[in-house]
Amino acid sequence: MLDTLGNLERTHTCGELRGSDVGEQVVLMGWVAKKRDFGVFTFIDLRDREGVTQVVVSEETAEKAHAKAKNIRGEFVIAIKGNVVARDDNARNAKLATGDIEVKVSELLVLNDAAVPPFQLEVAGSENLAAEDTRLKYRYLDLRRPQLQNNIRTRAKAVKAIREYFDTQGFIEIETPILLKSTPEGARDFIVPSRIHTGKFFALPQSPQILKQITMIAGFDKYYQIARCFRDEDLRADRQPEFTQLDMEMSFVNREQVYREMEGMFNHVMKTVGNIDLPAEWPRMTYAEAMRRYGSDKPDLRFGMELIDLSENLKDTDFAPFADTLAKGGEIKCITVKGKADYSRKQTDELQEFVKRYGAGAMAWIKVPVRTGSDSDLAPTSSLMKVLGEETIGRLIKTSGAVEGDAVLIVAGRKSVVAASLGALRQEVARREDLIDRTKYECLIVTEFPMFEHDDEADEYIAAHHPFTSPMDEDLEMFKTAVNDPSQKHLLGKVRAKAYDAVINGYECAGGSIRIHQKDIQALNFKALGLSPEKARERFGFFLDALEYGTPPHGGFAAGIERTCMILCGTENIRDVMAFPKTASAQDLMMDSPGEVDTAQLDELGVRVAE
Ligand code: AMO
Repeated sequence: MLDTLGNLERTHTCGELRGSDVGEQVVLMGWVAKKRDFGVFTFIDLRDREGVTQVVVSEETAEKAHAKAKNIRGEFVIAIKGNVVARDDNARNAKLATGDIEVKVSELLVLNDAAVPPFQLEVAGSENLAAEDTRLKYRYLDLRRPQLQNNIRTRAKAVKAIREYFDTQGFIEIETPILLKSTPEGARDFIVPSRIHTGKFFALPQSPQILKQITMIAGFDKYYQIARCFRDEDLRADRQPEFTQLDMEMSFVNREQVYREMEGMFNHVMKTVGNIDLPAEWPRMTYAEAMRRYGSDKPDLRFGMELIDLSENLKDTDFAPFADTLAKGGEIKCITVKGKADYSRKQTDELQEFVKRYGAGAMAWIKVPVRTGSDSDLAPTSSLMKVLGEETIGRLIKTSGAVEGDAVLIVAGRKSVVAASLGALRQEVARREDLIDRTKYECLIVTEFPMFEHDDEADEYIAAHHPFTSPMDEDLEMFKTAVNDPSQKHLLGKVRAKAYDAVINGYECAGGSIRIHQKDIQALNFKALGLSPEKARERFGFFLDALEYGTPPHGGFAAGIERTCMILCGTENIRDVMAFPKTASAQDLMMDSPGEVDTAQLDELGVRVAE
């Protein structure tokens, strides 16, 4: 028989009582985290969102409560009334905030029972957690774990801090619709069929990009929004199909002014939520420099191990693979791993397999052994020794900066492949060798992104950011030439944009740009992207119209709330900072969605599922 709550009111949370409360008569409510039965005494760890309090039920002083306690199990919901007593010195629990006291129960109400949970909630160490799919199916149980409770509360604090920041800076919060028209962020759209307009569809926003720009045309000057975004794209550890952005836009500004808001917001959030100090002015680095030095547009600066160019040393080589690479405009680069001259064959083979995933054909290595007394004649070894010879290897060692004890890992190929594979290898080696100082927070604004990317398969240029991004003033003439003269189209690959990202600890936490506010340049950009005027009108006609009516210069950025919270919570799994995330295959295991719908519902929408 379950008890009713009646008029009973809770006096404290389960994380609140301290030594100073001894003697108080209290009422606590929560879940049974643990129960230990010692015959005449039953000990219960009572848990709510604030913590755990040990309560003790004695057969002698509370017979009825003791009898009830016999029948309760983990996750039952109970209320207890009792007295706060000090624990004996040897029974104090320093790990628990409430560990100096316990509550001697006089009354116990069983408010609800609970089925045996399909997995254990209280485990030491994340490696002992139940399989993630099981936890996602029973997300409400998983969310009871203190770790997730903390993460979700951190997220709430982060969003609050974001609002605080933009409010004090004079930004106006404006909501934009979820039922929209296709927005251009480069992913597939999620679409929603219209019942009223059979055969027509809404698209869910990939971001509120066009609307945030329209708020500027509408004269709001400074806008922000906590916006839901939907992107049907391949998922990764830091990507979800449905996620949340802080979006902001401001008028009459240059890039530096937007950077200041980006720094201001992140600094405020990191400080108020995580007590993390970031520099008032973040370092800036151009995209070109980031790619050259780190092989990544979001370098993790918590460790060094920069990419070093060996091409100059090898320009006269007759080793065919390297000579070919250089002849085709490729490059040969390396990273130098401190103290890893003892890499085994197995380890270098593993690293070679790793770089191959990023398109590299192979990974060569040089090891510079430590020379001590009897080993003083030990010479460097290398997978390239036979083909390059000792002298060249010696020169490569010099350029790489390797000293005794170090290993040099080398990749040759197209510039993009070398960057991608060595950039990823740098990160992988740092992870394996534990080179990352987890107490550090290294931030960076990456600037001057390329305006276009070349889609090799389709042989066309696509927007690297989105099609409303402004070219750099310095590259405007080149941009115009590339668009208007088909023989100069390749120049599009060189045009830089007023686009930037905010990077913290190797995560792209925000991205933005100064937008095109002049209609002729916008039209040129659509042309560059292969959109005919008719197609541009069909997709963005409303926006082109809006540009006709006095558009102020404007720019902004969007920050990923999840990525920001991943840094605040110290997790590499985006699902750890979302209450109800989807799996890597874009499913909600708890609700079992996506699911089927009735034929009648589809008929009404005029939609038929293809056989
Ligand atoms: P962008 O596409 O760079 O820019 O997105 C901005 C930030 O949102 C986060 N983010 C994601 N987080 C989780 N899952 C995803 N699938 C995902 N995709 C992006 C990242 C990213 O930096 N309209 C532009 C912004 C602008 O120009 O103002 C935009 O959406 O942290």
